[in-house]
Amino acid sequence: MIPPAKRDGHQDRYYTPEDVIKYREYLGVPSSIQSIRKQLFLNFKGGTGKSTISASYGFRLAQMGVRTLLIDLDPQGHLTQCLGLDNQQYPKTLFHALIEREEIENVIVKTDLSTLDIIPSSLNLSPVELSLFSMNSREFRLKKLLASVEKNYELIVMDASPSIGLLNLNAILASNDLIIPVLADFLSYHGLKILFETLSTIEEDFSFTFENIFIFLNRYNESHRICKRSKRALETHYEKYLLDTVIRQDTKIAEATSQGTPIFLFAQSSKGAGDIQDLIDEIFGPKEGDHA
Ligand SMILES: Nc1ncnc2c1ncn2[C@@H]1O[C@H](COP(=O)(O)OP(=O)(O)OP(=O)(O)O)[C@@H](O)[C@H]1O
Ligand SMILES: [Mg+2]
Repeated sequence: MIPPAKRDGHQDRYYTPEDVIKYREYLGVPSSIQSIRKQLFLNFKGGTGKSTISASYGFRLAQMGVRTLLIDLDPQGHLTQCLGLDNQQYPKTLFHALIEREEIENVIVKTDLSTLDIIPSSLNLSPVELSLFSMNSREFRLKKLLASVEKNYELIVMDASPSIGLLNLNAILASNDLIIPVLADFLSYHGLKILFETLSTIEEDFSFTFENIFIFLNRYNESHRICKRSKRALETHYEKYLLDTVIRQDTKIAEATSQGTPIFLFAQSSKGAGDIQDLIDEIFGPKEGDHA
C-alpha cells in the first residue's frame, strides 16, 4: 500500500515528484522514459509557442517525476523568463560552457522542483555564433557537452531561437526528437517547408536523422476558417509527423507567460494545461504497434 496523495490549498490531491519516483520504485512501475530523450523545440518562424510550450511541457514532466533539464538556447531568454527566473541573475549561460570551457555543472541552475534543472540564458549568449565559428568540431560541441551530464537526467528539453545558425545546428545534432509548434496560418505552413528543406540538407551533410519528428498546432481556434483549412493542409502534407493533439488558443497560457509561471501552477484546470498534458501523453504514450 502507498500513502494517499497530499491535498493542496484547494483540496485537490497531488503527489510530489519525489513521491512519484519513490512509489514508482516501490510498486516496480518503470518510468515511461526508458532511455534519455533529448528533445528540441524548433521552428524558424517566430512566435509559434516554442518557449511557452517547452517551458510548461518540461515543467509538467518534471512534476510527473521525470528528471528533466531545460536548456534555453535563445539569447532573448524567454524560456528562462517563462519559468519565473530573472535572466540578469544568472550571468552564466551555455556560452560559458560551450566556448569558455566552464564546467557544465556550474551553469546548471536548480529550481524549486527537485526534478527540474535549467540552463538559463541571457544576452550573454549572443556571441556564441561567432565564437563557435572558429572552433574545432564546431557542429558537435553541444552534443559532447550534454554527454557529460546525461547520466543525471531522463529528459533534456531545449528551446531554440527562430534562426538558422551554428547553435541551432549544434542543438539539432545533439537531439533525438524534434518538436515543431506551428500556427494555423499559411506563413507557418511555408515556414515548415523551409524547415524540412534545411533538415534534409543537414541529414545529407552529417548523416544524421531524428528518431522522431512531432508537429503540433498551437493557438488553434476552430471557429476560424483559416485554422481549419491549414489543419487540413498539414494533415495532407505532413500526416506522418502531425500529432492529433492540438493546443488551443487560451488566454490563460498568455497570462501565465507574462507572469513567468508555468500554466500548471497558474491555472491547472485551464484548457491550455489540459492540451499540454495531452501533448505529453501523446508523445510519451504507447506507440501504434506497441502491445499493451
Ligand atoms: N496556446 C496559446 N494560447 C494563447 N497564447 C499563446 C499560446 N501559445 C503561445 N502563446 C503566446 O504567444 C506568444 C509567443 O509565444 P512564444 O514566445 O512561446 O513563441 P516562440 O516560438 O518561442 O517565439 P520566438 O520565435 O520569438 O522564440 C507569447 O506571448 C505566448 O504567451
Ligand atoms: Mg522563443
